[in-house]
Amino acid sequence: MSRIAYVNGRYVPQRDASVNIEDRGYQFGDGIYEVVHLYDDRFIDEDRHLDRLERSLRAIRLPMPLTRAALSLVLKEVARRNRVTEGLLYMQVTRGVSHRDHPFPTIPVPPALVVTVKRIKPYPVSIANWGGNAITMPDLRWAHRDIKTVNLLPNVLARQAAKEQGAIEAILFDEATGTVTEGAATNFWIVDEAGVIRTRALSHSILPGCTRSALMSELAEAGIAFDERAFTLDEMKRAREAFITSATSFVKPILKIDGAPVGEGTPGPVTTKLFEIFARHVKGGAKNAA
Ligand code: PDD
Repeated sequence: MSRIAYVNGRYVPQRDASVNIEDRGYQFGDGIYEVVHLYDDRFIDEDRHLDRLERSLRAIRLPMPLTRAALSLVLKEVARRNRVTEGLLYMQVTRGVSHRDHPFPTIPVPPALVVTVKRIKPYPVSIANWGGNAITMPDLRWAHRDIKTVNLLPNVLARQAAKEQGAIEAILFDEATGTVTEGAATNFWIVDEAGVIRTRALSHSILPGCTRSALMSELAEAGIAFDERAFTLDEMKRAREAFITSATSFVKPILKIDGAPVGEGTPGPVTTKLFEIFARHVKGGAKNAA
């Protein structure tokens, strides 16, 4: 069955789908995207993702391409037409098509909206084989990493460097302070040497991850303490455990960083507990409220 994409109001076979060469997303990276996990026909943390989409669009002065309710229907329809009940939804909004010029188009053009879905492997049944290794790299991104823009060149180069070194993620650090920001496409957490669960507080320096926020709600509900406090590379190297979170990683253990084992070099007890808590969040009817 050919995959179906939603492109500016039409559902089209993905192999025939195309965008104009003067789309500003293509020429300037002038756009916003979201990736949502679909599990058992439900969009996990849909409200959180749509809230962030609205926030990112506002930040770059782009209107929502559709009402939120209509967009939600499009997401469902793309999943339905592709018969995907477990997968990843990708949506992208750009500032539309106009002759190349840096300022916004003077004659208003509608934003361009594309939605696709792809199947993924079944949700990991256990944490045992879910982990991977990471490398560290300076964070070379722009100052507004809280906006989920399609400008991902530093992230792409960091992920490629990780891949070439047999790692699944690049952990980025701020060169001025020596503190960790986040992963190239994930939020990054440690269980520090005192046993405290830590991740950097929200600011312009990191993306406000939906998985991060959902996990924090679950932790609060379970009475498990965590600390939103930045840590240095040295603190990270002394950590007992490390893990990443994202719509595609869920809670994923990091076993080695730059070749050195984190703790025992196997998924630790805290990460394992959080993996289980998040699996319940996904499987147990996923509370979608932000
Ligand atoms: N990445 N930080 C960055 C830089 C990200 O790109 C992402 C998500 C996250 C985690 O956010 P969330 O929990 O909402 O997925 C953190 C997506 C999955 C991607 O680019 O494919």
